[in-house]
Amino acid sequence: MKKIIRTWTINGEARTVEIPPMRRLLDVLREDLELKGTKEGCGEGECGACSVLLNGEPVTACLIAAGQVPEGADILTVEGLERTEGGRLLQKLYVEKGAAQCGFCIPGMLIASYAYLQNPDRDNTDHALRDAHAGNICRCTGYVKIVEAVRAAAEQWPKPSPLPSPGGRG
Ligand code: FES
Ligand code: FES
Repeated sequence: MKKIIRTWTINGEARTVEIPPMRRLLDVLREDLELKGTKEGCGEGECGACSVLLNGEPVTACLIAAGQVPEGADILTVEGLERTEGGRLLQKLYVEKGAAQCGFCIPGMLIASYAYLQNPDRDNTDHALRDAHAGNICRCTGYVKIVEAVRAAAEQWPKPSPLPSPGGRG
């Protein structure tokens, strides 16, 4: 099949790929762009391990074909969290609260947490917080410490800001 050329902003940097349109976004990220932080669990949209933000919305990258991602799309993977103040806070609190065990679900979980926390209109109830992570399965933690980490992050969350330019830190 004919390949397509797309330029996306990934973690604040312009990246151009030439890919078959049906190639999964997950494979483009992990294999073509070497962004291995995004994990594959089920490969069927059920576990959330492959979650990334696409134009600010959490999506499961295993279910999205590259051809569905428009030119100029903005993608945030777990690697990009390090470049934002909120992302660094979130990672620190996951560690402090002991929210990770085997760690396999954590990249997707962090993306779900980040998407929830970035919403200025978020409902801060436990129900809303848990609901925001309902698509992310963890087989180890029982979720309690993850919820504690996100609740602590919500109390200290910085004002949402755009990603810094390449090389910078926000
Ligand atoms: Fe995509 Fe499980 S690997 S949802
Ligand atoms: Fe092991 Fe979540 S920490 S699956």
